[in-house]
Amino acid sequence: MSADLSNTFHDELQSLKDLSGLVQLRVKYLGKKGILTAELKSLSSLPAEERKAAGKRVNDLKNLIESELDAKEASLKAEALKAQLLSESIDISLPGKSAGFGRQHPLSRVMSEIADIFVKMGFSIEEGPEVELDKYNFELLNIPKDHPARDMQDTFYVSDEIVLRTHTSPVQVRVMQRQKPPLRFIAPGRVYRCDADITHSPMFHQIEGLMIDRDITFSNLKAVLRTFVHQMFGADTAVRFRPSFFPFTEPSAEIDIGCFLCKQAGCRVCKSTGWLEVLGAGMVNPAVLENVGYDPDEYSGFAFGMGIERIAMLKYAIDDIRLFFDNDARFLRQF
Ligand code: PHE
Repeated sequence: MSADLSNTFHDELQSLKDLSGLVQLRVKYLGKKGILTAELKSLSSLPAEERKAAGKRVNDLKNLIESELDAKEASLKAEALKAQLLSESIDISLPGKSAGFGRQHPLSRVMSEIADIFVKMGFSIEEGPEVELDKYNFELLNIPKDHPARDMQDTFYVSDEIVLRTHTSPVQVRVMQRQKPPLRFIAPGRVYRCDADITHSPMFHQIEGLMIDRDITFSNLKAVLRTFVHQMFGADTAVRFRPSFFPFTEPSAEIDIGCFLCKQAGCRVCKSTGWLEVLGAGMVNPAVLENVGYDPDEYSGFAFGMGIERIAMLKYAIDDIRLFFDNDARFLRQF
C-alpha cells in the first residue's frame, strides 16, 4: 500500500511543471484532508501489534514526501528566477546608438584662428551693426555720395541713407568716434554685396583691423601683417605688398602671399602666378581721422581687411563658396 503511494507520488512529482502545481500536490498529500493525514488517522483502527510498524512506515513516507516536495520547490524557484533574469536581461554586447557630435563650421574655425592670432598681438574685438548708415559705410570713410569708388561695391540699399554694410570698415569709424587713441582692435562680422557666383556670395564675412597711436608707420603695418601671415599660413610663407587704392587709406596696399598649394610653382588656384591675394590694407587716410575728430598731425594708424571665405577656400582648397552655406552635412563633416 505505501509502496504504491510512494510510486504515485513520485510520478506526480515528476510531471510537475510549476510552483502552483507543487502547492496543490503538497495539499493533496500533506494537507488537513490529505492522503497521508488520512493514513495517520487510520492507524488508530489497526490492532495494537501492527500499529507501531505501520506508524513508522507512514511517518517515513511522510518525511520523504516532505523533503522531496521541499527540494522540488527549491529547484522550481531557481528555474523561475533564471527564466525571469534571462527574459529581463540587457544585451550589453550590442553597439550603442551614438548621439552624433556637432562640430564647428569651417568659417567659424578660420574666423577664430585669425582672431586668436591678433588677440595674441594685443588686439581687442569690436562689433558693429550689419544694417548700417550710409554715413558710416561710405561718407565718413572718405567715400562721398558721388565718389566713383562706390561702384566698387554693389550695395543693398534699405533706404537712401541706410544700407546693408558692404564691408566691416564702418566699425573703424564707430569705434574711433567713441574712443580716444591708442586703439588696437579687430572687427569680425557679416557683410553684404549684391553679387553671386562660385567665388562671391551676397552675404559673406570679413575681419577688419585698426591700430591708431602716435608714430604708427607703414613699418608697423608690415610687421603686424607679416606676423599674421606667418602664423596663419606657416613661417616660410612669402609675403608681398602691392600698391593699391582704397579711399579710406593712403597709401594703400594689397597683400599677397606665396601660393602654399604649389609652393609658388604655379597652379590652378593661384592662376599660375605663384601668388594669392589675401588682404587689403593701408595707412588710415588723414581725412578719415579728421572726420572722427582725431588730429592727423598727432595720430596716425593703419587699417586692414580680409574676407574669411576667401581665406578658408584657400586653406582647405574649396572651389565653390556656396558650399559654406548649403548646410550639407557631408561637406561640413570633413572639417
Ligand atoms: N574694406 C575694404 C574692402 O572691403 C578692405 C580694407 C579694409 C582695405 C581696411 C583697407 C583697409 O575691400
